[in-house]
Parts: sequence; C-alpha cells; structure tokens
Amino acid sequence: MAEQYPGHGEGIHIRELRPEEVESAAKFWFEDLGFDVGVRLFQRWYDQDPEAFRCIVDENGTIVATASAVRQTEGLYYIGTVGVDEAHRGRGLAKRLIRSLRRRDPNANYGLSAVPSYLSLYEGLGFQVVEQPFAHIYKGALREPLKKTQRPEGTELLEIFNGHPRFQEIEDYDARIHGYRRELGKTLIDDEDGVVYAMVRRERIIGFGKVQSNQRDQGAWFGPVYADDDESAQYIFSQLLERFQRQAQTSIYVIVSYLARHWAEELNLQLIEKSPRCYVNVDQVPAMLYQHLYAFDSLDFSLM
Ligand SMILES: CC(C)(COP(=O)(O)OP(=O)(O)OC[C@H]1O[C@@H](n2cnc3c(N)ncnc32)[C@H](O)[C@@H]1OP(=O)(O)O)[C@@H](O)C(=O)NCCC(=O)NCCS
Repeated sequence: MAEQYPGHGEGIHIRELRPEEVESAAKFWFEDLGFDVGVRLFQRWYDQDPEAFRCIVDENGTIVATASAVRQTEGLYYIGTVGVDEAHRGRGLAKRLIRSLRRRDPNANYGLSAVPSYLSLYEGLGFQVVEQPFAHIYKGALREPLKKTQRPEGTELLEIFNGHPRFQEIEDYDARIHGYRRELGKTLIDDEDGVVYAMVRRERIIGFGKVQSNQRDQGAWFGPVYADDDESAQYIFSQLLERFQRQAQTSIYVIVSYLARHWAEELNLQLIEKSPRCYVNVDQVPAMLYQHLYAFDSLDFSLM
C-alpha cells in the first residue's frame, strides 16, 4: 500500500520494495559507507521477510530512499539499509520511511546499529543507545602469510553442513548467546560458498563461526564467531581465515566486539566505524551474552 506525502510534491510516495529492486536498496548505503557488503545480505533479508523493505519513489517512479525493518522474532525487528539519494537528503525522507516501517508493528521493539554521525536521526525517532560502542567494523586484506595457531587442548573442530547431526545443538548454543532463537539453518549454512566450523569439547559445542565470500568483490566476509572462551574463538577465526586465505587476499570484512579487536589489528585491517547499538524499547533488549560474542553476523545483528 502506498502512502502519499503532501509537501513533497505530487506523486512522491512510500511503497514496498519489489524483488527486482533489492539491488537499489543496497546502492545508497554502500556508496557512502565504503563498506560494500554485497547485495546477497539484502537479498537474504528480503527472502526472509519481503514486507521488511520499503522505499520512497519520486513522481517519475524513481527510487530515492530505501530502508528495511527485518523481523527477527516475535515483537523484534532490526532496522537497516537506510539510504537516501544524495539529491534528496535533508528533507526528512529517512525519518518518514522509518516511521512508516514501524507502523507495520507499532508495539514491537526495533533495534539498529547506527552510523555514529547519523545517531541523531535515530535519537529523533526515539531510539536510545544501549551499548556504545558495540560493533567495530573493519576492512582490509590479508598481506602477510598466516601464522599457525594451536588448537586448544581437548577440543575438536567440525565442519558443519546442511543436515549435520549436531546442527540442533549449534542452534541451541546460538539461541542462548544471542538471546533468542533464530532460523540458523537458512542463513548460516544454506549458501553455496559459506564455511561453518563448530568447536566441541567433551562432546559439548563451545563455539562456532562462519566465513563466506562477499558477493561484490569475492573477498572474505567473517562472522558470526561465538565461543565460550578467547582461545576457542581465536582458533575458530584462524581456521576460517586459513580456509578463505585466497579470498582474504582480495579483501576481509569483519565486524567484531571489543573482545576481538586485536584479531583485526593483528591483520592490520582498517577500523571503519564504531557503531552504537540502539533500541526503541530499552527495557526489552535481547539478553545477549556479550562475553561470548566475538564477531557479529552483520551490522544489524541478523544472520547473513
Ligand atoms: C543518513 C541518511 C539516510 C539520512 O537521510 P535524510 O533523508 O537526509 O535524513 P532526514 O532528512 O530524515 O534527517 C533526519 C535527521 O537525521 C539527522 N541527519 C540527517 N542528515 C545528517 C547529517 N548529514 N549529519 C548529521 N545528522 C544528520 C538529523 O538529526 C536529522 O534531523 P533534523 O532534520 O531534525 O536535523 C542519508 O544521509 C544517507 O543516505 N546517508 C548515506 C547512507 C548511510 O549512511 N546510511 C546509514 C545511516 S545510519
């Protein structure tokens, strides 16, 4: 259903994004942020929740702004892909679009990871910072040969594939750390080139991590990495890196918590941004176990 906007000229309106327009949802965003995640992420979110994406079109039908609020679980949505065409900025379009997204489920909680310079946009819409900084975004490439990392004693590393007998355990592990149950199968292992490792100690899952290629430049995108302790997390990351060594020479993208900043620094990656994590309803923030969160899935805490 389209919403008209008086004051913005005849014909300017908000409507749902169409499947063939997902690429354009990515456009305004990555051009500015220099953080080119590729459209696969947006495509997955779209497939997961097509109603999540809305856009503003001008009188000629050209998309001038996009944003999404992807449903994560009952009563929880994450806002992302907020972008406005340069020529149309500063006229309240981003604000209108986000308000419109929230009308879908007005009583729900909405979270997001803000670009720090635009934090006031979200504060003006009632979002509050709950963790500052939360996500550290790094970009770079592998320039040095990798050092060998010792596998922690008593542990085993498993490669997880679709239908793996231990998948349910990983899903349970993720739910405990992430604060709610996610459809892990669809996004963690159901893609062509992603590699997922899980770590086991005394028959128990003690961590897992994923690497996949970034669609746009065929580099390596790391995340999530969730683990019980630093040593296990570091080992999972090092093995993913070794596996994607060739792609990592093209580029590395990783979003880490404060726990894993040193991984990025040891690889001499460039810190692009430190993002605060924000919610509308700060009393209903998922109880993430921060001490187990090393690398994030994506900026919007959703699985890629
Ligand atoms: C961020 C962005 C979406 C804002 O779109 P917009 O339509 O120009 O924003 P609005 O006109 O609705 O502005 C709403 C509020 O955002 C803030 N804001 C917007 N542009 C800003 C800027 N350049 N610097 C600082 N604050 C800004 C202001 O608080 C503003 O409120 P005000 O008008 O009462 O001052 C747009 O600049 C953009 O596409 N940037 C590149 C992509 C990007 O960074 N996206 C992620 C954003 S977290």
